[in-house]
Amino acid sequence: MAQRELKTEHLKADAAGVARAAELLRAGALVSFPTETVYGLGADATNDTAVARIFDAKGRPHFNPLIVHVPSIVAVSDYAVLEGKARDLAMAFWPGPLTLVIPLKPNGPLSALVSAGLPTVAIRVPEHPLAHELLTAVGVPVAAPSANPSGRISPSTAQHVLDGLSGRIEAVLDGGPCGVGVESTIVGFDPAPTLLRPGGLPVEALEAATGQALVVRGEDASITAPGQLTSHYAPNARMRLNASEALTNERMLGFGDVEADLNLSPSGDLVEAAANLFGYLHKMDAEGDAPIAVSPIPDHGLGRAINDRLRRAAAPRN
Ligand code: TXA
Ligand code: MG
Repeated sequence: MAQRELKTEHLKADAAGVARAAELLRAGALVSFPTETVYGLGADATNDTAVARIFDAKGRPHFNPLIVHVPSIVAVSDYAVLEGKARDLAMAFWPGPLTLVIPLKPNGPLSALVSAGLPTVAIRVPEHPLAHELLTAVGVPVAAPSANPSGRISPSTAQHVLDGLSGRIEAVLDGGPCGVGVESTIVGFDPAPTLLRPGGLPVEALEAATGQALVVRGEDASITAPGQLTSHYAPNARMRLNASEALTNERMLGFGDVEADLNLSPSGDLVEAAANLFGYLHKMDAEGDAPIAVSPIPDHGLGRAINDRLRRAAAPRN
């Protein structure tokens, strides 16, 4: 984990507070903000390093894909493809406590770390007036998981956020207690509407709107089942981990002071390495299928999440 202690600003829910929060987010800082469900830990979703810092601040050992927050349905089309049943649900329930997992727009501006390398992205338009004000002012999409350290309960007040993350984030925008208190309901399309996580929007309301029963699929089953992860996330090339150098037929994905085709972080910075990881794997995938040798990555802080991801990418598959 990053050891540096930040002075976390406690921002008021007024015009100056919103302007300061927006300014910080645009500069790549981490700002917690209220939504109607829980407080989110926000970062510019187009900034690889800012997104990597979310995982660092939360102490997450895995790169779960994150939810991207935008101020309106219209804004979605810059980042993702909102069509068919997904569009119908968006029209019915946004703004509100509903997240839709939809295809990424090809060559869009979102950091690959936001969707953990998947071809889809989770998006929502929150209803909280302060969240709406902030998202409108900031002008970039905001990636935000709940603003708690990994494994702890989700925060529904600014004080909860400060209790868990003070010194690890630049600011919290204080909008008082959140109304809903549980996270948003997440729906994917398989192509049938599929419940990925029950949450603040009741399933009954969704079923009434779609006129059909939702397919129910556990959040964990859809994302963290190792089989799914390997088939979704792995590059085509074989990977060899903990390599000190490339063999003659291999390409080298380096870390630290080594000779490499691509280097995750020449200076050995784990936040920088995490920021580059998915983008570099995609790039190497696009450039051919010669095997990839990967430098050892220290197994602490974000290194744990990087190693988790690399082990899955290197796992045998059929
Ligand atoms: O209420 C909420 O949803 C809060 C507030 C801050 O908006 N946010 C939140 O984010 O709970 P987070 O990052 O904790 O939830 C992300 C979850 C992942 O764990 C995963 O289950 C699902 O969203 N998810 C994200 N991207 C996905 C994708 N491409 N495919 C499937 N599931 C995805
Ligand atoms: Mg959470």
